[in-house]
Amino acid sequence: MDCPAPLSHIAFIMDGNGRWAQKRGLPREHGHKAGAETFRRIVNYCGDIGIKYVTVYAFSTENWKRPKREVDAIFDLLCRYIDNYLPELVMRGVSVKFIGERSGISKDVIKKIDLLEEKTDGLDKKLFIALNYGGRAEICGAVNRLIAEGKTKINEDDISSCIYTYPAPDPDLIVRTGGEYRISNFMLWQAAYSELYITDTLWPDMTPSDVDLALEEFKRRNRRYGGV
Ligand code: IPE
Ligand code: IPE
Ligand code: MG
Repeated sequence: MDCPAPLSHIAFIMDGNGRWAQKRGLPREHGHKAGAETFRRIVNYCGDIGIKYVTVYAFSTENWKRPKREVDAIFDLLCRYIDNYLPELVMRGVSVKFIGERSGISKDVIKKIDLLEEKTDGLDKKLFIALNYGGRAEICGAVNRLIAEGKTKINEDDISSCIYTYPAPDPDLIVRTGGEYRISNFMLWQAAYSELYITDTLWPDMTPSDVDLALEEFKRRNRRYGGV
């Protein structure tokens, strides 16, 4: 289906990789590998149907609590993903920006991230990859920046202009796979009036048809923004 007119930004909380692997008697890392392939397929599909902004939640500030082996596997996959997917992103006109804290991420990974951002800079479509991302950390970072600029009183526009996704519009629709009814520290500022869509489908099983189902549901929503 085509992108519904009032939707310019879709975000995905890509959850359920571990359970997908466990269901198959595989180590959790296999779920992340399958999830990385799904990521590519879904991002491409969103671009194909004309969605201008896509955000994916890849690694949270809380995900460091996981066993080192799993964390290492996630970052290895990311590096391989960047190597393999870069030419395709350029060809598809997708500009990538990583959102989240760089501190804590290894130098090698930072180099890859910088390369991907640099090589895709200025392209028309936008892909935000939330990596070492926390919504609360993002808001604290914005406030600290404003304090450093000498501000003593701040308003909503000030914060909006200092968050990672500025000047992109807030997500119209946030899709969470894996069936949990929570936001898990994702886009706390930007999600004020986002529509939420939660599916039990585990992320590696997510298909373009599942995206269509979310978009159909989005079209039926009545966004009131507090009005009548
Ligand atoms: C989401 O899948 C990916 C990351 C958080 C990196 P999970 O690994 O959380 O999968 P489940 O929720 O344990 O199934
Ligand atoms: C949210 O999933 C983070 C990502 C998808 C990257 P989690 O699996 O970390 O969330 P919780 O722990 O179930 O809230
Ligand atoms: Mg999870």
